[in-house]
Amino acid sequence: MEDRFIYQMEPWIGKEERDAVCAYLESGGWLTEYRYTRMFEKMIADYTGASFASVVSNGTVSLFAALMACGIGPGDEVIVPDFTMIATANAVRWIGATPVLVDIEEKTLCLDLEKAEAAITPRTRAIMVVALNGRAPDMAALTSLCQAHGLWIIEDAAQALGARQKGRHLGTFGHIGSFSFSAPKIITTGQGGALITNDADLYDQIVKIRDFGREKPGMDIHIALGYNMKFTDLQAVVGIEQMKKLPERVERKKQMFARYRSNLADVPGVQFIETNPEDTPPWFIDILVDDRESLAAYLKEHGIGTRPFYPPIHTQVPYRGAPGEFPVTERLAAKGLWLPSSLFLTDDDIDRICEHIREFYHRGTRLAFQV
Ligand SMILES: Cc1ncc(COP(=O)(O)O)c(C=O)c1O
Repeated sequence: MEDRFIYQMEPWIGKEERDAVCAYLESGGWLTEYRYTRMFEKMIADYTGASFASVVSNGTVSLFAALMACGIGPGDEVIVPDFTMIATANAVRWIGATPVLVDIEEKTLCLDLEKAEAAITPRTRAIMVVALNGRAPDMAALTSLCQAHGLWIIEDAAQALGARQKGRHLGTFGHIGSFSFSAPKIITTGQGGALITNDADLYDQIVKIRDFGREKPGMDIHIALGYNMKFTDLQAVVGIEQMKKLPERVERKKQMFARYRSNLADVPGVQFIETNPEDTPPWFIDILVDDRESLAAYLKEHGIGTRPFYPPIHTQVPYRGAPGEFPVTERLAAKGLWLPSSLFLTDDDIDRICEHIREFYHRGTRLAFQV
């Protein structure tokens, strides 16, 4: 339908989720986290291949819990890419440590490992690597780097559920991986986050941190400083239905990216990020263009929503003046545009969007000829 406004991203909840919520409410559950939350966690662990998964209230507190479980705090430095959603850097600040911003590599839009190595100081305790849009830097190289310097690896894989590198799920390379289930993610519970790890001690700490530092759930004996980061079974019943749909969604994301790329292959103004079709289902369809604002305005006039890339972290108010040089982040953040990426978009929707992008560039050529 030509007239329907196509938003850049909308969640997709179906009859299965509605039925599951109604059935749960009719069963008189306690609403807070219990059996369904444990089932949801098991599905995440099984799907990613991690030994343990622990769900929490969102993908920001999960980063905070990861840092806390690794014993990071005031006086410590944590390397964070300059191009990420701001929660990555905020979690480091929130724990009292210093986020050390580092530029990204052009190929993946993720942390530049050479520049990260150059930023390591005696105070560095961890690298918080971000799997931006389901892509990641060379994780084997990152692991060697961190081993050589005795650093923790925390993977902010908020945007990477379903994404792998050489067949291995992102989030499982580091000591702890973190996911988000906020509304635009590949699966959603409205809000929500998860931590995965293969380390039983870290898991044990995480479980305590998220539940007031309790020695055991349901007891009022507290053996550590903890918080309330708990989930709810009401969300878990939605999450379980969404997880059942994940494999299909991962395939659809890959198809959507391939369709956009082939439709726009001959439009010279549009550049795609190199993407391995086996491993990466880009969460948002990302392009680099020189005339982002006018393309976005043109698409909006034609009923198509887009979203500009995040500004570099060092340009955001709480981080202004952060030391470092960020030429790649600055250049790419200014050119990046996320195209409509909702999972329910049809091939016809994608063709229509691409047609308007093509028109925009042809119109530009005609104007250039008239000059
Ligand atoms: C890379 C990254 N990290 C962290 C977060 C924060 O997750 P949440 O919104 O669940 O707190 C997001 C959310 O989009 C994200 O994209």
